[in-house]
Amino acid sequence: MTEPQRPGRTLSPQEQARLDAIKKSWQQRRQVGDRLGRVKCKIGVYSGKGGVGKTTVAVNMAVALAQQGLAVGLLDIDIDCPNAHWVIGAQEPPAYANGEFTPALAWGVKVMSMGYLQQHEDEAIIMRGPMIHNVINQFLQSTDWGELDYLIVDLPPGTSDAPLTIMQTLQMDGFVIVTTPQSLARLDAKRSINMIRKLNVRVLGVVENMSGDIFGKGAGEELAKEMGIQFLGRLELRPDYRKEDRPTVLASKKVMEEYGHILNGVHEQLEAVAHAASSPSRE
Ligand SMILES: Nc1ncnc2c1ncn2[C@@H]1O[C@H](COP(=O)(O)OP(=O)(O)OP(=O)(O)O)[C@@H](O)[C@H]1O
Ligand SMILES: [Mg+2]
Repeated sequence: MTEPQRPGRTLSPQEQARLDAIKKSWQQRRQVGDRLGRVKCKIGVYSGKGGVGKTTVAVNMAVALAQQGLAVGLLDIDIDCPNAHWVIGAQEPPAYANGEFTPALAWGVKVMSMGYLQQHEDEAIIMRGPMIHNVINQFLQSTDWGELDYLIVDLPPGTSDAPLTIMQTLQMDGFVIVTTPQSLARLDAKRSINMIRKLNVRVLGVVENMSGDIFGKGAGEELAKEMGIQFLGRLELRPDYRKEDRPTVLASKKVMEEYGHILNGVHEQLEAVAHAASSPSRE
């Protein structure tokens, strides 16, 4: 532990730099907190493995919630390959004035994506630790979401700097974990659950995506049992996802039903959290 600063003692340049960094990070957290102050619930969609359908699930969850008449935002914070704005069909960048972004709008959902910061969509964004931290903070501080019932956050895969920074900065209400039925995806999903738990954030449940005859089914349910969390439901592998003119929940009744089921589970979990928080402690 560092010694408390005595009056009159001059700080060394290293100490001063450390103090400045702590102050800056504290201010950033407060500003991000203020910015997101009117967002009732922030849900992350996450998995350690790439390509399992995080973006697809985040987009369709957001659109399905907006269809229920709720105020919804979608934030794509995948630094390397942001694409949620493409999947939802909000290619037009958000308005920017007086240092502030007003999110783009698609299918009733307010959309912000790291992809808007790219000059060319096929460009790779390469960032390292502290830079990731600063860009994410800057991005979060400059976006005016207004009042939202839900902010759905599409995270990058992996257990590296970017998802960690986001989890620490955003103070999420919970995470939905996506896995495919294969055992490798299940192993990665298990790592993701452990990482989220280490950060003391709640895992709302597991979704098994691309379920069906081709990849099989059941891994999501087994994983949920093993980790003691709720199994939120199955999303079948379907050709409907190839249609790009609209989010799949709007193109297929069956897909909308699958998402309806998953969202019921999410609501249940959130209610259980709220209930636990408002109940008097038994200590
Ligand atoms: N249930 C499904 N049925 C058919 N295709 C699907 C399904 N879910 C997702 N896909 C397709 O799988 C591909 C990968 O999905 P997506 O981009 O959502 O994965 P991701 O986990 O976000 O990937 P990344 O880790 O790169 O961010 C996409 O082409 C998407 O349309
Ligand atoms: Mg993605």
